[in-house]
Formats: sequence, structure tokens, C-alpha cells
Amino acid sequence: TTNHLRHVESMASLPSGAGKISHLNAVILGEALASEENDFVFPSDDFSRQALIPSPHKYLEMYKRSIEDPAGFWSGIASSEFYWKQKWGDQVCSENLDVRKGDIKIEWFKGGITNICYNCLDRNIDAGLADKIALYWESNEPGFDAHLTYSQLLRRVCQLANYLKSIGVRKGDAVIVYLPMLMELPITMLACARIGAVHSVVFAGFSSESLAQRIVDCKPKVVITCNAVKRGPKTIHLKDIVDAALVESAKNGISIDVCLTYENQSALKKESTKWQEGRDVWWEDVVPKYPTTCDVEWVDAEDPLFLLYTSGSTGKPKGVLHTTGGYMVYTATTFKYAFDYKESDVYWCTADCGWITGHSYVTYGPMLNGATVVVYEGTPNYPDSGRCWDIVDKYKVTIFYTAPTLVRSLMRDGDEASCISNLVYTLKSPYVTRYSRKSLRVLGSVGEPINPSAWRWFFNVVGGSRCPISDTWWQTETGGFMITPLPGAWPQKPGSATFPFFGVQPVIVDEKGTEIDGECSGYLCVKGSWPGAFRTLYGDHERYETTYFRPFPGYYFTGDGCSRDKDGYHWLTGRVDDVINVSGHRIGTAEVESALVSHPQCAEAAVVGVEHEVKGQGIYAFVTLVEGVPYSEELRKSLILTVRNQIGAFAAPDKIHWAPGLPKTRSGKIMRRILRKIASRQLDELGDISTLAEPGVVDQLIALADS
Ligand code: WTA
Repeated sequence: TTNHLRHVESMASLPSGAGKISHLNAVILGEALASEENDFVFPSDDFSRQALIPSPHKYLEMYKRSIEDPAGFWSGIASSEFYWKQKWGDQVCSENLDVRKGDIKIEWFKGGITNICYNCLDRNIDAGLADKIALYWESNEPGFDAHLTYSQLLRRVCQLANYLKSIGVRKGDAVIVYLPMLMELPITMLACARIGAVHSVVFAGFSSESLAQRIVDCKPKVVITCNAVKRGPKTIHLKDIVDAALVESAKNGISIDVCLTYENQSALKKESTKWQEGRDVWWEDVVPKYPTTCDVEWVDAEDPLFLLYTSGSTGKPKGVLHTTGGYMVYTATTFKYAFDYKESDVYWCTADCGWITGHSYVTYGPMLNGATVVVYEGTPNYPDSGRCWDIVDKYKVTIFYTAPTLVRSLMRDGDEASCISNLVYTLKSPYVTRYSRKSLRVLGSVGEPINPSAWRWFFNVVGGSRCPISDTWWQTETGGFMITPLPGAWPQKPGSATFPFFGVQPVIVDEKGTEIDGECSGYLCVKGSWPGAFRTLYGDHERYETTYFRPFPGYYFTGDGCSRDKDGYHWLTGRVDDVINVSGHRIGTAEVESALVSHPQCAEAAVVGVEHEVKGQGIYAFVTLVEGVPYSEELRKSLILTVRNQIGAFAAPDKIHWAPGLPKTRSGKIMRRILRKIASRQLDELGDISTLAEPGVVDQLIALADS
């Protein structure tokens, strides 16, 4: 078997010895050993006893089977837990992941005929969940809420599906969705899936230019939006952004016939919304008139389900394409095991459906399991930093899934992070301890590595030292969790994503692409495919192969660095390419640079990531101005505004560093390594600068560092 399996086998012997330490002791021990790698935190016996995977032994047994017989493992789950109109052909999986052997291809359950919306709704309703709450919706404004049962949700989905069909949306057509976290967002995704249309949700924090770029790339039949949204105290006029995007995309030859607009009354009234007769249609005027049942469009497992654009290290955003069958099986199964899902759970994921986490773990994964899902429209610290725990208590949330950046910002608001015992944490976190939180039983983290001190605060304060944390490592491309604790099985190490999910074979390779074994660190790759893997980049299979499969032939390359410790635990160390992870959002340095140089007074720009206390990474931009233009505060602001307008507010640089010149090699390549050191003020670690075309620029840059 694989190297990896050996690691897992050796670690499976761990808890028997270590398990003798009581839960409480383990936590205290954990505190004492702060930030040490061999710092175990154990799930309580009570938790493990009721867990789906109660021990590493059980995990190992299933993991082994999933690796030795992936087809048998996944087809067993696919046929017993989902509805298929027709079973797949002879081959469960057909793949080529080796560029040396021809085109990259991944197919799962090909020939199987199904529908993911049917599996989320109709199947669960038939199984008796008609009156179970599917969605709880909590408005930005405390006190305003709504909910839908599974059967009510199905009726809403069908009405929209019928409307979409009436305007000519057919199987395979793209639909662009630019909606905030209203119930209408999952409703729209499910309605598209029901009729075989391909949704492409664009996070409603992207600017009109980014939206236009996506519209031009996927040429949708319709754009679905709402008039405005409130985020905290601010009102954001989404419809105006869409209007501007539609003007922009028309210039590029793509004109949109229908812009379906939901009236988000709490944010803005109809009368105050700008309107283009003939193109714009109020959702409320048309959708409720359609029948509440709608036949399902049965699709092949390999028919596309959605496109989601994500940033890469170069060029324009990539349209990551996911198909139906494998994604369905994978998101449902990962959700179930990584959160130890039970029918009585109330699940809240704070991610927006504009990102992959909202696709796989707000909409599809939970709904496929028939879960009750909380959808929150607003910001986590509005009206104050206790809002999340207020929501947890209000809906009796049992599984709470969020991002390290949120944990850190709430921790900062209520806590100094310098604490060493549970008691001190508690006293210093009034925003948290004001609320009971006793419904919580599992916590989750995603988006970036969670630093051990944030992990501990999350575990001790938020979860009352009672709830295991599933630190889920995965990517837009992977569709679902890849490396994650299974909460009842693992002793955890704060900051480690622990072990691979069933069917996943992570490998760590060196510069040359050679697999390295034992305690090591290097580039994280994956061997073999898994059902949730993306199948291509929309319209650019070549780029798919070049970006992900050519760097280390034979493997899928993740773009992340990773180390494995002596116990086989995985520690993600962040991106090794030119992608910056800001508050869990992927931003390509190239995108920010191209936004900056579009400013008429900017001659050149180089962007690097720097450590940031709350956001994980911040954006640090070196900017060279056009000859003769003086630096000014006004110009700094206008450069930042350019980035906000072209990408979105979340991509605004934290720092502009004026640069008379940039360090380049003689062949003209910018030496980012040096820029990173200057940005993080590690000036004694600049390394060899003699190969630069003009070594003098380094001193110039250092001199201007804090001006
Ligand atoms: C990072 C988000 C460490 C990683 C689901 C990855 C993480 C990128 C974790 C994907 C984690 C995500 N620990 N790093 N638990 N989760 N990442 O596509 O660098 O928005 O490559 O998908 O986020 O970001 P994406």
C-alpha cells in the first residue's frame, strides 16, 4: 500500500495509550504545551461514543477500503444514499491524471442519470422530512427572520424553475447569480440544478467590472440579483452594480435580455431602485405566479452543475467547473462525516454562497443530508461582536462552521489572547460568555490555516472545551473536504487539519516532484482522483492541465505547502504560488497588479502578501509611478479605489509602498522573494541581491519603507 497508508496505520495505535488521559487533563495539558506539535486535544468519551466514526481504528478500516477499492467504496455510498433514475455504466471512475499519458480526464458515475435538486428536496421529503425546517433565515437586522420547511422550499424552487424555463433557460445554459445571503440564493441554485442549468454565483462583494468579466466569459441567459443589501449599518446597491456590469458586458458583445431582481425590502424599496424597462423584471411580480411543482430535468452524472470563478497566480479568474454526480456524492459524504451529522442538528456555516464553501456546505452538502441550515444575511459583528452567539442561541445551533479570520476578529474584540487557562479566557470574553452556546457540539474552520492560539480560543471559549473542531482543508477545485479531522475519531492538534478524508491520497513532494516520506515538508499534491474533483476550467482545458497537472506530472498540484509531523498529522503552511489568502478569500497578485497599472499614473506594480493579525494575510503593493508624478496621499487613495472598483473592496491593498524602481533580474523578472522580505521588514534576510540588474533599488526601497 501507499506510504500514506503506513503513516495512518502507525498513528492508529495512538489513542489507546494517550486515551488514558482524561479529557480535562488533556485540555490542561494542551494549554501547558502551547503551540507544541505534540499537543493532543481529545474528544470526550461521550462525544466519541455517539460519533459516526468513533475511533481511529474505525477510520482506518474505512480509509483502507476507500483507497484499495475506490470504485467499490464510492459506488456503495452512491447507490445506497442517493436516487438515480438510471444506474451508471460499467465504470464507476475513469481517469487520467498523468499529462505524460494524454489529456487529463476525470469521470465518476458516467452514464448514471440523476438530479441533485431532486436528491436535496424531493428525496428527503419522500423520506418524511416534508415539515422539517430546511432554512432558517436571519436578517442583518436583529429581530427579522424567516424560515422554510423542506416542502415549502421545494415549492419555491419549483416556481423559480418554471419561470426560468418560461424565459427560455434550458439544460446546459449558464445563469449568473449576484445575490447576497437571502433564502433566494440557495433557492436559485437549486432551481437551476432542477432544470439542468449551470449556475455561476458571483460573490456580491465583487465590483461591476469583475461581474462583467464573468458575464462575458460564460454568456448567461439571465442575470439574477436583488436591489440592495444591508451589511451591518451600510446599504449596498447591488442592482446599480449589476447595471454597470451589463453596460460593460454589452461593450464586449454580450447583452443580457433579462435581469431578474428580487426586492430586498428591508434594504431598499422598489420605488428607489433604478430600472430598465424591458430588461429588468421584479422577482415578486413573476415568480409567485408559476406552478409550485416542476418536473425534474434528469441529467448525466457528468453534466455540469456549476461554474465558480476563482483566482489563480496569473491572468484572469478561472471558471472552475463541477459536474453533478461525483460532486453530489462527495459533498454529502464529507458533510456527514466531518461534522458527525445527526438528524437533530441545526447547522450554521457563516460562509457566503458566493464562494465554494457556500456551495458545498451551505447548500448542497447539508441539504443532501436533509439538514436544517441557518442562513445569515449580515456581518458577524453587527450590531456588536456577540451577534454570532446570539444567533447560535436563537436557533440552538449545534454545528458552527466558520473561518479563522472571524475567530481572530471576535477573539480580539472580546479577549486579549494572552490567556493561559480556561478561566481567564472566560472572564475576558464577555461578548461570548454573555450567551449560553450550550447547543453547540461541533465547530469547524476553513479558508486558511488556523493558528494554534485562535484554535484554542475557539475551542475553550466558544465551545466551552466541549466541541471538537473540524479544521477542513480543501479548495474550490476539490469540491469538498480533503484533509479534515473526523471529530469523534481524532485526538486533535491545534492548527493541524489532521488526516485525509476517505478516498483522498495526499502526497508531499519535493522541488523535483519526488514523493517524500515520514516527517517532511514540501508541496502538497494529490494522487488519484476523488468524486468531487473539478473536471476542467471552463473553456480552457489547456490551462487546467498546465496549472494543476503539469507542475508535478502524475499528481494534482494544490498550490499549497504542507508538512507532516512524526505522528502523520498534516500541517498546511499556505500558498506556495502567487495567490494571497486575505480573510480566507483567494486573491491573485496578478489581478491586483493589473488593476493598479490600469491607473493612469501607475507605471508598474508588484504585489505580495504579508502577515496580518486578523485577515491572515494582507495585501502589500509596491507601486512605481509614471515619470514625473509626485507621491501624494490623494494618489494613494485613488490607487486603492481603482482596485476596489476593478475587483472588489475585499481586494483593496493594505499598504502602498512607493517604489522608484523594482528589484529585477537581468532578464527583467521581478524578484518577489526580495519584495516579500522588505514588506515583512525582515531586512537581514534579503539573501543574495547581487544578481539584480540594479542592486541599488533595494536600498532605495528600504529607505522609503515607512514613508
Ligand atoms: C486555503 C476554500 C489551511 C489553502 C475552501 C487553499 C486552508 C485555499 C484551509 C483554497 C485550511 C482552505 N487550512 N489552508 N483548513 N482551507 N485553505 O478555493 O491555501 O477559496 O489552497 O477554497 O485556501 O481556497 P478556496
